[in-house]
Amino acid sequence: MPRFDAVLFDLDGVLADTAHIHFAAWRRLGEELGIHLEPTFEEKLKGVDRMGSLELILAHGGVTRTAEEKRVLADRKNGYYTAAVAEQTPDDLLPGARRVLEEARDAGLKIALASASRNAPPLLEQLGIAPLFDAIADPAAVKAPKPAPDLFLEAARLVGVAPDRCLGIEDSVAGIISIKDAGMVAVGIGDPTVLTRADYVVPTTAQLHIGDFL
Ligand code: BG6
Ligand code: MG
Repeated sequence: MPRFDAVLFDLDGVLADTAHIHFAAWRRLGEELGIHLEPTFEEKLKGVDRMGSLELILAHGGVTRTAEEKRVLADRKNGYYTAAVAEQTPDDLLPGARRVLEEARDAGLKIALASASRNAPPLLEQLGIAPLFDAIADPAAVKAPKPAPDLFLEAARLVGVAPDRCLGIEDSVAGIISIKDAGMVAVGIGDPTVLTRADYVVPTTAQLHIGDFL
């Protein structure tokens, strides 16, 4: 009997080559506010939702804004991001992404998305992988964003699978914490010295093989 009944995927940096696009949009906004973001700041923003990311950036720059100003700034960043991903096609999937989804499907596993991104549903359509998903957890429908476990628990609930029968795949520190605190097994995509709480780490999606975990 396989160890899992579902695979829960993050999107940005796992299936879609969009993590650097989010960061480029934040850097542009940061420069406009006089806040320079070092390349190392990217790791701190991965998996963190839109307003949470803005708060980290403002705190980093020692800049204060009202709630209304923050909403305008977050919208501006989202405009930069959506303009940059508007032309994405299936060619922009990360190498191995479609194959990994097909491996999960062929193994009879449920497939759900647990992405913090409000832009995830249209991006899945653009990338041509929406039909491979059984469920998409809505980040607006859960109480607490990553690193809280809520979004992964919601994804598991949507596919009707107990957390301990779920494999979560993530490229962010926040996301790995979320998976582990949900009581699931976590596979990190990236650097094992960064994704220290992951149960397994592979360098890229191209090196991820679902069969290795069953
Ligand atoms: C995550 C990204 O997937 O989605 C974060 O790793 C991003 O960088 C978050 O901030 C929220 O995305 P969006 O599209 O709702 O602004
Ligand atoms: Mg990610």
